Amino acid sequence: MDTMHILIIGASRGLGLEFVAQYRAAGAAVTATARDDAGLLRIQALGAKALRLDVADAVSASGLAWPIDGEVFDTVIVNAGVYGPRTSGLQTPSQSDFDAVMHTNVLGPMRVLPQLVESLAPGARVAVISSRMGAIGQRGSSSGWLYRASKAALNSVLKDVSLVLAGQAVCVALHPGWVRTDMGGAGADLAVPDAVADMRRTLAALTAADNGGFFNHDGQALAW
Ligand SMILES: NC(=O)c1ccc[n+]([C@@H]2O[C@H](COP(=O)([O-])OP(=O)(O)OC[C@H]3O[C@@H](n4cnc5c(N)ncnc54)[C@H](OP(=O)(O)O)[C@@H]3O)[C@@H](O)[C@H]2O)c1
Repeated sequence: MDTMHILIIGASRGLGLEFVAQYRAAGAAVTATARDDAGLLRIQALGAKALRLDVADAVSASGLAWPIDGEVFDTVIVNAGVYGPRTSGLQTPSQSDFDAVMHTNVLGPMRVLPQLVESLAPGARVAVISSRMGAIGQRGSSSGWLYRASKAALNSVLKDVSLVLAGQAVCVALHPGWVRTDMGGAGADLAVPDAVADMRRTLAALTAADNGGFFNHDGQALAW
């Protein structure tokens, strides 16, 4: 069997780094990005190719196309994300918090995904790591409303990507679960290896009919 080639955007730690570890352990060739030397070294230590990339920086993010020129990816995972202010009510975000969250979680994927179109294998899987917190139809809390708004916008971005790439790739938004990373905190439900193993299984099981869908880590379809 041909070696699978995987690209992970935002892989310095947490879910992104675990995707690198698990895909490498499964024998895949992995290219992954980080924005500082420590993150790049952690990626390289797992035997993956490391690229420096800050999705919130226009110059850095627009430079992705040339180092991946000629590469063909079977799976692309856009994982980079920030939570921003941990609000519980309707506290208006500062301009800088708004920009940091929206630039990372929404503008970042809008910068990165168009550069990947030429580098996808036929039938490639393209996933953005979204969150159930972005789902409007299921919402029962307003906590972290800036983060929620950013993931709702990310879901919209994914849907448009899926329309453009229909027939070429299967594009989905994934909810990783509530996971014990720096973002999820120590009290979260799921261990990082379990959440990533679930998402890898879900990605592997996707069919063309799943293009444009929103899925829980365990493969269950989620309402927007
Ligand atoms: N953990 C959860 O419970 C949970 C639940 C739902 C969704 N998610 C989503 O899952 C994804 C991964 O989260 P996580 O829990 O692994 O969080 P994490 O441990 O805080 O890691 C976040 C990752 O995103 C990277 N990142 C942040 N800003 C970036 C930028 N401007 N450019 C490139 N990379 C950037 C970080 O890199 P640095 O090391 O350079 O900061 C880090 O690798 C996020 O999109 C998050 O919203 C997580």
